[in-house]
Amino acid sequence: MPEVNILAIESSCDDTSAAVLRNTTLLSNVIANQAVHAAYGGVVPELASRAHQQNIVVVVETALKKASLMLKDLSAIAVTAGPGLSGSLLVGLSFAKAMAFALKIPLIATDHLRGHILSHFIEKKSPQPQFPFLVLCVSGGHTQIMKVNSYFDMQLIGHTIDDAAGETFDKAAKILGLPYPGGPIVDKLAKTGNPDAFMFAKAQMQGFDYSFSGLKTSFLYFLRDNLRQNPNFIKENLNDLCASFQKQIILSLTDKLIKASKALNIKEIALAGGVSANSCLQQSMKDLSVKYHWNLYVPDLQLSTDNAAMIGIAAYFQYLQKDFADWNLVPYTRYKSGELKVES
Ligand code: KG4
Ligand code: ZN
Repeated sequence: MPEVNILAIESSCDDTSAAVLRNTTLLSNVIANQAVHAAYGGVVPELASRAHQQNIVVVVETALKKASLMLKDLSAIAVTAGPGLSGSLLVGLSFAKAMAFALKIPLIATDHLRGHILSHFIEKKSPQPQFPFLVLCVSGGHTQIMKVNSYFDMQLIGHTIDDAAGETFDKAAKILGLPYPGGPIVDKLAKTGNPDAFMFAKAQMQGFDYSFSGLKTSFLYFLRDNLRQNPNFIKENLNDLCASFQKQIILSLTDKLIKASKALNIKEIALAGGVSANSCLQQSMKDLSVKYHWNLYVPDLQLSTDNAAMIGIAAYFQYLQKDFADWNLVPYTRYKSGELKVES
């Protein structure tokens, strides 16, 4: 197997990241988070693009340095082409394009969601999922169950028709007065809360699809009514509120996954995306794995939230197929079924 060194760049939302892989081995993975959004309760696209522009050179330089590689050692440059924020994607894409052009090496356009899913194939000691497997891909922008038949063939089984799970965590946190991103904070506060203290409406969706907007509205109205009676309601019940709300999201996520696993008779189950870092989701998935005899695969923390390592591994398999991008490549902002070879 020839040695393939890929520099990968990910800038789809509010993390500027660069990683270097030698074949499937991760040599470095550098992530610069953007604290600037915390004060606004969510990602401000204009500020995200500017921050990417400020960070990208140093992030790429650091990734190469940590990998002990020089530019001449690179075989290809990989970049997230979408989905994501247009301005954010453009920074990474233009940078990657210019680098590949100057170095006269191939440019590889990679899909962000394929990256999250294929992050499981980065070399590590623990076992990797066997095809076909089911993956619950849960992030700030996406919530879907996919059947992964190969590195390239991924079939959409179910998805959210409105808010994503991570977005729901973040919106609930905002309602509670917590900073962005709220998911990790809710996770932390929920640890000392009672998940059965409060009940919120759960969406009854057909098939394998999700809906989270009703839960968010039910949470909002519940708080509004209780705050009328007691202005300190949130303060006095913060941990229980986080635990109860979190439980509802996780129940919705896992119910459909159990259903899909039974319907497709697949017991290879993986998690991917930022929300897979949630400790309660991980615990309930472990419990379900025992109950349903699943082989469960959970990404390491640094590979669950946005990172360029996942783009590098997805690009490696594209490199082997000589799936290179044209110089007129432009980013796409929305989930593109064609990009993932998805059949719904
Ligand atoms: O995959 P990711 O980094 O970016 C997107 O592709 O969207 O996911 C970010 C999302 C955010 O909504 C964040 O609140 C959520 O993942 N998240 C969590 C946790 N860590 C990150 N949600 C719940 N519990 C966590 N521990
Ligand atoms: Zn992501």
